[in-house]
Amino acid sequence: MSRGTLIDLLYLFSATTFVVALKGLGSPRHARRGNMVAAFGMLVAIVATFFKYVDAHALHHVGLILLAMFIGLIVAVPTARYIKMTAMPQLVAIFNGVGGGAAALVSITEFVHIKSTHPATYVTLEVLLGVLIGTFSFAGSAIAFAKLQELMTGRPITYPGQQIINAAVGFVALALIVLILVTASTALLWILFAIAFVLGIIFVLPIGGADVPVLISLLNAFTGLAVAASGFTLGSNLLIVAGTLVGASGILLTRLMSKAMGRSLSNVLFSAFGSKITASGATTRADGLSVRSGSPEDVAILLGFASRVVFIPGYGLAVSQGQHVLRELAELLESRGVEVVYAIHPVAGRMPGHMNVLLAEANVPYEQLVEMDEANSALQTADIALVVGANDTVNPAAHDDPGSPIYGMPIIHADLAENVVFLKRSMRPGFAGIENDLLYNPKTTLVFGDAKDTLTKIVAAVKAS
Ligand code: TAP
Repeated sequence: MSRGTLIDLLYLFSATTFVVALKGLGSPRHARRGNMVAAFGMLVAIVATFFKYVDAHALHHVGLILLAMFIGLIVAVPTARYIKMTAMPQLVAIFNGVGGGAAALVSITEFVHIKSTHPATYVTLEVLLGVLIGTFSFAGSAIAFAKLQELMTGRPITYPGQQIINAAVGFVALALIVLILVTASTALLWILFAIAFVLGIIFVLPIGGADVPVLISLLNAFTGLAVAASGFTLGSNLLIVAGTLVGASGILLTRLMSKAMGRSLSNVLFSAFGSKITASGATTRADGLSVRSGSPEDVAILLGFASRVVFIPGYGLAVSQGQHVLRELAELLESRGVEVVYAIHPVAGRMPGHMNVLLAEANVPYEQLVEMDEANSALQTADIALVVGANDTVNPAAHDDPGSPIYGMPIIHADLAENVVFLKRSMRPGFAGIENDLLYNPKTTLVFGDAKDTLTKIVAAVKAS
């Protein structure tokens, strides 16, 4: 077998590992293995590419390549290792952004290369699409990162005529592509690069922090397309396959997330959702309803009479890092004959699968995690719904109030349980910024405080009872 055939076979192997990895990532049980399979496939691809270029005598600046890989390693490995779970969306944003930026740089380099070696040749569309989409994705991801990292406001930034201006800038970018195809002008390429950069920024500005994870998934899909475009430019089947897989899975994930939030993608991208906080934040409202607060000991007493409890975790559980104590409470209750399940809403937390990953880290058995439909039937006969740091995902306005911004979002019906207990720190609303009537429901008790602290006190009180 020739070296060339071997390299092609290695590429085929890598492409196959990416598909197998995606399958593994479909379930928390296999996600870690899926990641390892993809990483191994990528390593094989890098080594094969190295030898491909050695064989073609086209490998220049090896020192620089190794230096770049080394810098990448020392930045990325500790960052990925020590990042807090709650900061994962911004990590994905920045990793995704540099992927798009790299694809754009490859396209720019190829453009300059084609022009210097074959001045009379035409410039192909995929090179320009690589520049446009890759740069757009880089700039958009950088702003998404800044919003989530709170380097700038997470609220939507809007101004009059915004969407018309954005559309006009997008139109200019497309017109430039046509002009460059005709003139092959390098000066125009740099203008396209600048316009794509601006477009990435202005596209993301009106999107509120709550919707940024969906946006990141969309930008991830764009990066995939930019990489696939680079694959056409460089004649690399592997890049085409890998980029298309990222593009397709990113689009599917974007759709799934929008659907789980009960919103259309255009609503997520263009409605400046989250620009207004409408929750009153009061313990007693103007309509006379007031919340009932309780102590961890009160909750322990309630739990003492329960035979079926549904835990409903949300973003606040991740913030407080209370997952281990929550599992301890579950085990304690089970040892006393109480049936416990964890109800998992698909958009609880701030990223897809957030609660699954969080609870897996605390070794909660997968069998105890139930999805929304199953959770809602369990809640009909539950004595207690223990809502730990969740809010929007249990808000009844999603199906009672057609005027609510989250109307239509499927929710976990905590209100079906005999008693509802919320663990949260204050009367602040969830990410959507809207009032939750369930907090004022007569069957609801609020225990104010950090979720981990409160859970620790509840565990102690249950043990003492
Ligand atoms: P949220 O509705 O955001 O509510 C989180 C709750 O946790 C708040 O009530 C907050 O109240 C409480 N909290 C925060 N820190 C806490 C702590 N240390 N201890 C105790 N409580 C704490 O959460 P959710 O129900 O998980 O809903 C997720 C939201 O994010 C939805 O609106 C969803 O659409 C949006 N979203 C999710 C995703 C994905 S993919 N997961 C993507 C985009 C948007 P206090 O501040 O009073 O404590």
